[in-house]
Amino acid sequence: MEVKVYQNKIKVAEEFSKYLIEKSAGQEAFHIALSGGSTPKIVFDVLADEFANDVEWSKIHLYWGDERCVEPDDAESNYKMTVEHLISKVAIPEGNIHRIKGEDDPKAEAKRYGDLLDKELPKELGLPQFDLVILGMGDDGHTASIFPHEINLWVSPDNCEVAIHPESGQRRVSLTGRIINNAKTVTFLVTGESKAEKVKIIIDREEGYLEYPASHVSPKTKDLVWFLDAAAAKLLTSFQS
Ligand code: 6PG
Repeated sequence: MEVKVYQNKIKVAEEFSKYLIEKSAGQEAFHIALSGGSTPKIVFDVLADEFANDVEWSKIHLYWGDERCVEPDDAESNYKMTVEHLISKVAIPEGNIHRIKGEDDPKAEAKRYGDLLDKELPKELGLPQFDLVILGMGDDGHTASIFPHEINLWVSPDNCEVAIHPESGQRRVSLTGRIINNAKTVTFLVTGESKAEKVKIIIDREEGYLEYPASHVSPKTKDLVWFLDAAAAKLLTSFQS
């Protein structure tokens, strides 16, 4: 595991954009699962506004690690957020965008999207393999849409599962651990003071850390990188020194 700490969200966005350009350069096809929520907005803006010409968008295929079960034009939609902050600003072919249909029946969509991954992604150890999975982490230690109260979904035998947001009860479609940990590379984009407590527990492997889904992210390739800002890293032992 590698932990990269930058002083603020902008620096995280710039350094992550450079990292993505490096990772995807020269690839015939580069399959990425995107995170949702609010943290990616600034990263997508910086990537599109400052680095768009450095990415071979015709080779980039976009998927999502999770989606809220809402219409694609709903304010809660991860797809909508990504269109506004990235897709509408770069020359990525329509056919390279593989969104989760949050408007459809959650169980049926989890199945459909799971099958799509089987069809579209190269296989490694018999399982679909992303080149890069980008994850966020909630203040409660959830990642993708695998929440602590449903941590059993992480070990699901299926590629995707239907999850329930603990407070809102909102349905979500989420990748499961078997797909996330089968990726070539997994990166966490985590910023802000509200995340510091869980970042410390999970990265410093403190007592009870396995209660949090984000602690189960462990790609078989061992290629796991945390991109943090100083606020999110402020409690890390290594950061204290
Ligand atoms: C989602 C996400 C989720 C997100 C965390 C962090 O759809 O909400 O994919 O896993 O990454 O909740 O969200 P913030 O970036 O908004 O803090």
